[in-house]
Amino acid sequence: MGRVFVAGSINMDVVATADRHPRVGETVAGKQVLYFPGGKGANQAVAAARLGASTTLIGRLGKDAFGAELRAFLGAQGIDLGYVQETADAHTGTAIITVAEADNTIVVIPGSNGLVSADDVSVVPLLKGDVAVSQFEIPLPTIAAFFARAGEAGAVTMLNPAPAQKMSDELLALVDILVLNETELGFLAGTELSDSDDAARIIEVARNLQARESQTICVTLGKRGVLALAGREEIAVQGRAVTAVDTTGAGDCFVGALASQLAEGAALRAALAFANAAASISVQRMGAGPSMPTAAEVRAIL
Ligand code: RIB
Ligand code: NA
Repeated sequence: MGRVFVAGSINMDVVATADRHPRVGETVAGKQVLYFPGGKGANQAVAAARLGASTTLIGRLGKDAFGAELRAFLGAQGIDLGYVQETADAHTGTAIITVAEADNTIVVIPGSNGLVSADDVSVVPLLKGDVAVSQFEIPLPTIAAFFARAGEAGAVTMLNPAPAQKMSDELLALVDILVLNETELGFLAGTELSDSDDAARIIEVARNLQARESQTICVTLGKRGVLALAGREEIAVQGRAVTAVDTTGAGDCFVGALASQLAEGAALRAALAFANAAASISVQRMGAGPSMPTAAEVRAIL
């Protein structure tokens, strides 16, 4: 059975809840301030670990109270933190989040995540059958080094290019499985995509972005489910109707769940359905990291 290695960000999410979001220049009264473990890398690792995968996180924390709290939380999830270092050169990554009407806005300050280096990922013991996962909250050259190493080891590489930023063709070519939402797909493909675009159009844009025929592109569509292009095969997974309270980290739940399933040897279609179900559970709970489900919880609704 393969293992999951996540090279990525670890943040403390400082969450303000309110009845509605303020407009620019406006002040609204909030209801609560909450501190949740977050960061796309950490969230994906928590999802994979809670779903039963042997999971290792590679990243950096600051030498501060948030760093200590995050290490304790992540360790309690059974994640191997042997490759998470503390740095005195930056504060722990922090995200300032507002949640209102189940939607969020996020300002993320990278701090220590910005210092995760190619050296940090060069020592990771990847093997054939492992899944190497990353996102865009650590430096892109670090991700390229991680994926190059994973490729040499025969591991599968999975990239969640979020938050969206331009990436080189060289980095895209190192990716076996790209997991992104329709906004990120549109951004990378240089076109606009919205809720009103149908499956045929989304698949067409994904096909244009595909770096090589063996690359898989999975497009998460929120309550409309998932579309995937695997080589030439198209896969559609139906959305699940649930009442969301906080969608923060839902994409991360999907990515971590997909990685855990593929590491176990599941077929892509089954792994996508599993990940879609996992994400539908996470949106019904507050917070990012703490909202990730267990395998038993997912199986109960499949
Ligand atoms: O994807 C959700 C995450 O993005 C949050 O946990 C926050 O830390 C930001 O990085
Ligand atoms: Na959540």
